[in-house]
Amino acid sequence: MVKSLRIPSFKQIQLILLVIFILGTLTALVLIKKQTDTRSRASSDTSQEAESGLKTGNVSTGSDTTASSGQYIQFGNPQLPQPTTISTPAATNPTPTAKPVQAFNAHAVLGSSVSPWYFNDSRSEATLKQYHFSLLAMENELKPQMVLWGLDQNSFMDTSRWNWGGADQEISVAKRNGWQIHGHTLVWHSNNPTFFNNLPNDQLKTFLQTYVTTVTSHYCGQLDSLDVVNEAFGDDGNPLPSGIWTPTSDYSISIWNKAFGGSDYIKLAFQWAHAACPSMKLYLNDYNAEAMNSKSNGIYTYIKNMKAQGVPIDGYGMQLHQGNISGQFEYGFADPTSVANNMKRFADIGVLVRISEYDQLVHDHTASTLSDQAKKAGALAAVCYAASNCTSFTVWGLTDGVSWYNGISPQPSDGKGYTPLLFDTNFNPKANYWTVHDALHLP
Ligand code: XIL
Repeated sequence: MVKSLRIPSFKQIQLILLVIFILGTLTALVLIKKQTDTRSRASSDTSQEAESGLKTGNVSTGSDTTASSGQYIQFGNPQLPQPTTISTPAATNPTPTAKPVQAFNAHAVLGSSVSPWYFNDSRSEATLKQYHFSLLAMENELKPQMVLWGLDQNSFMDTSRWNWGGADQEISVAKRNGWQIHGHTLVWHSNNPTFFNNLPNDQLKTFLQTYVTTVTSHYCGQLDSLDVVNEAFGDDGNPLPSGIWTPTSDYSISIWNKAFGGSDYIKLAFQWAHAACPSMKLYLNDYNAEAMNSKSNGIYTYIKNMKAQGVPIDGYGMQLHQGNISGQFEYGFADPTSVANNMKRFADIGVLVRISEYDQLVHDHTASTLSDQAKKAGALAAVCYAASNCTSFTVWGLTDGVSWYNGISPQPSDGKGYTPLLFDTNFNPKANYWTVHDALHLP
């Protein structure tokens, strides 16, 4: 014991103190290093976070999609009345009933026009998927009034200010589902910005060329097909040539005929579009010219001449709006055999066709009017399916709740709307969906 309590010598104490000092210094150094490491990792985390936060910030605030779509939703469009709203009941997407899934080897392309706000309701995309749509057509997003929203004649040439948000949104939905996408429409007498009406002819001509060229090249490789010119022909099949333009209320009288002193703008627009994107399928689109009649004769002759002159055109879109609203829309009903003959003559000159805007008005909802709607839809879809050159049967809107007719007056007296589409307001397929489904041999 006494031995163990022996007082250390001075040298021993010095040695012990030295060891303690060295150990202390080492511990301190390790601690300092640890702390430094933590800080620098934290600061690098912070800078990464800051960087990624910045990126996230960019994505959420500055990307085309969100910024422009926000802008899109915000700007609305008084001259392009949006159909009221998508119906609200939150039913789960219905499953097809009563129809066995059929195993066909080939089926035709069923398309729907869409607006970006459709996709605020998840049932829109789910329904398009579930019921075998494989093409989206842009209802309004490429019309000059939309793309040039907020611009005027002084800012028009600043193409960095053009609005692509709505079209981009639709393209992204189509892409993630592997669907085709059809652009609609660059040259039309309607849905133009008001400043187009007040321009000298030369400037309007330059603006049209810039518009066609810019939009087509902007979406080159992204759109499968495009309506370059819409509704350019009169009932008599005349492309409203020079001389007949008078400022009347006839909505088929076009500012383009006036500016160009005739119908040359049609051919020019196709040439500009083709030069901007040689791979894009270019269509002329019109209504009341699905069957054989004076208007379709005129369009047929015009397109045949375009081809003979080497003007690049791939196809002809037959709108196929069906039915009448007295004094406002007089479409009547196209005879399926006559539509088949019309498609055939275009096939013979190497021109594609597509049903581009099908819908059928119903005024009073009885068993017989609804079954008539279904029967006619099926017969017309069967014509497209049978035609070698018919590339799609596209419907103008998805559900009866979003039809472009919902905003017009008068509405049917039974308060049910015109119910022109293939799905009811709750996204349930109607009888006319199933006749189209069968006619197109959809799975
Ligand atoms: C309609 C849209 O459906 C509406 O939302 C818009 O207000 C006006 O235009 N023929 C056409 C389409 O070629 O562009 C039209 O679309 C319907 C008639």
